[in-house]
Amino acid sequence: MWSTKLFLLTAVLGCFAVCDSARILGVFTSPAKSHLIIHMSVVKALVERGHDVTVITTMPLTEKNKSYRHIHVPMPDSSAKQKVQMIQNKIDKPKPFWREFPEFFPKIINIANVTMNSAQVKKLMDEESFDLMILGYFFNDFQLGLAAHFKCPVIINFMIQPFTQLVDMSGTPREVSYVPNLFTGLKQPMGFKDRLWNFIYSEILEAVNYKLADWQHEKYYEAFFPRDRYPSLSDMKKNVSLILTNHHFSQGPVRPLPPAIVEIGGIHIKEKPDPLPTDIKQFLDSANETGVVYFSFGTHVASGSLNPAKAKAMFNVLSKIPFKVLWKWDDSAPFPGESSNILYKPWTPQDDILAHPNVKMFISHGGQGGVVESQYHGVPLLIVPFFGDQNANRESVENLGYGRGIRFQDITEEKFKELVNEVLGNPSYSEKIKQFSSLYRDRPMTAKQTAVYWVEYVLRHRGAPHIQSPLVHLNFFERHSLDVLAVIFGVLFVVLKISCLILCFVIRKIRGNKKMKFD
Ligand SMILES: *[C@@H]1O[C@H](CO)[C@@H](O)[C@H](O)[C@H]1NC(C)=O
Ligand SMILES: *[C@@H]1O[C@H](CO)[C@@H](O)[C@H](O)[C@H]1NC(C)=O
Ligand SMILES: *[C@@H]1O[C@H](CO)[C@@H](O)[C@H](O)[C@H]1NC(C)=O
Ligand SMILES: *[C@@H]1O[C@H](CO)[C@@H](O)[C@H](O)[C@H]1NC(C)=O
Repeated sequence: MWSTKLFLLTAVLGCFAVCDSARILGVFTSPAKSHLIIHMSVVKALVERGHDVTVITTMPLTEKNKSYRHIHVPMPDSSAKQKVQMIQNKIDKPKPFWREFPEFFPKIINIANVTMNSAQVKKLMDEESFDLMILGYFFNDFQLGLAAHFKCPVIINFMIQPFTQLVDMSGTPREVSYVPNLFTGLKQPMGFKDRLWNFIYSEILEAVNYKLADWQHEKYYEAFFPRDRYPSLSDMKKNVSLILTNHHFSQGPVRPLPPAIVEIGGIHIKEKPDPLPTDIKQFLDSANETGVVYFSFGTHVASGSLNPAKAKAMFNVLSKIPFKVLWKWDDSAPFPGESSNILYKPWTPQDDILAHPNVKMFISHGGQGGVVESQYHGVPLLIVPFFGDQNANRESVENLGYGRGIRFQDITEEKFKELVNEVLGNPSYSEKIKQFSSLYRDRPMTAKQTAVYWVEYVLRHRGAPHIQSPLVHLNFFERHSLDVLAVIFGVLFVVLKISCLILCFVIRKIRGNKKMKFD
């Protein structure tokens, strides 16, 4: 009793002594609920510490009791329609990420542009001030200008392990010889073929895409933050204080990170699950002898966008297994069938469900959020990837032995049945993922504590240039020591050339002398 009171007192005093209540702006314009979940987890941790947080989002927030200020700038109807169409195309014809990128990038940046042009954001820029900005990163680099506008330090929050743009922005060495690019699905250690593909992917395919994206960012940046009043975009990219990444090294790969990248993997996972809705709780509790399969394709893939024949094939398999099945199915399509062991729900509290001890397998689209939740709770996976990083997540899960996967378009009743039986029947998946779960949870501070500590660190010191990697300020030649090598080889060349000339001169002299003697 006393110790808790004392702890609370120290916590409260500690906060007010060092950071008071800071005014923090969260800019989260990417049109994805799964991204928002990660960003809002950081916001909630900061609000609990007494900070005054304002967030700008394009997606609605469903929470009733908001302890932060919310500015909702809905994306235009045309973008919403495009987004649905884009997802449908990806479901029908999946492509590798570097080929997907040129299609979705203009749409993403357009949504960011619309947000910035909105009356609400303009008003905010005219009237308010902030001590810190948190940018939810999703190819929206030009919004870094907002931090220049408010003259405050900026922290980037990211949903997964940092990908190349953030790796470069933070001055993290790319190390393509042993650090697999996220989108290749490769794992460490990499053999020659892997290294070759990793190099081509990272240094050529992706580099071209991102160069083109950078030109767009410059254009948008100039429109909102003209050069006569603001620092340049490239200066702003060099002025990011910290990157929070929803990743943990135990997930791999192992790579060197500068101090300005802080891992808060699992920030969105509750340390203690919330109570489940009554019907779901009863359904899960009652399966203490059989076990439950939890099935959800997340928030983007509407049930109505699934090919009905494939959905039926999955139903045929799941309705016959000796397990209960909790299936997230929204009202955009009729159920694929009714069965006494299956409960359909349009919305499911995923993290709380995965925390339930009776859940034995998670059938997922392989979004990073769900994969991490499954890993945290030690539930083996069957992944049916659709787009983005999902297929890479599937490969990684298969490589690590945490489950199996199959592309949606490849699903047949036989193949699906085989995979379901394999993951449920072979204990190795469950053992491996439970072992990972204990590694993932073994840390000195929880994800929440880490996020709060480092955000307040940046607040206390008004930016954090002293933890920045100097690599940020080097150009291509300096970064690869090409200038140094040029000087070394230049000097070597000159020394060799001179030695040659001297040698030739001496030889000629000796020969000349000999000739003279014989004459
Ligand atoms: C709203 O949330 C705050 C902070 O999380 C909490 O202290 C408060 O009790 C909540 N109020 C209601 C009515 O739920
Ligand atoms: C950004 O949006 C505004 C208004 O919605 C539009 O006028 C402008 O052309 C857009 N910028 C670009 C670069 O497309
Ligand atoms: C970089 O950020 C700091 C605050 O963290 C600010 O004082 C400084 O002016 C910024 N530099 C540029 C070029 O914007
Ligand atoms: C399963 O749960 C029921 C009630 O929910 C209980 O009566 C039964 O003993 C439980 N069985 C086991 C093996 O725990």
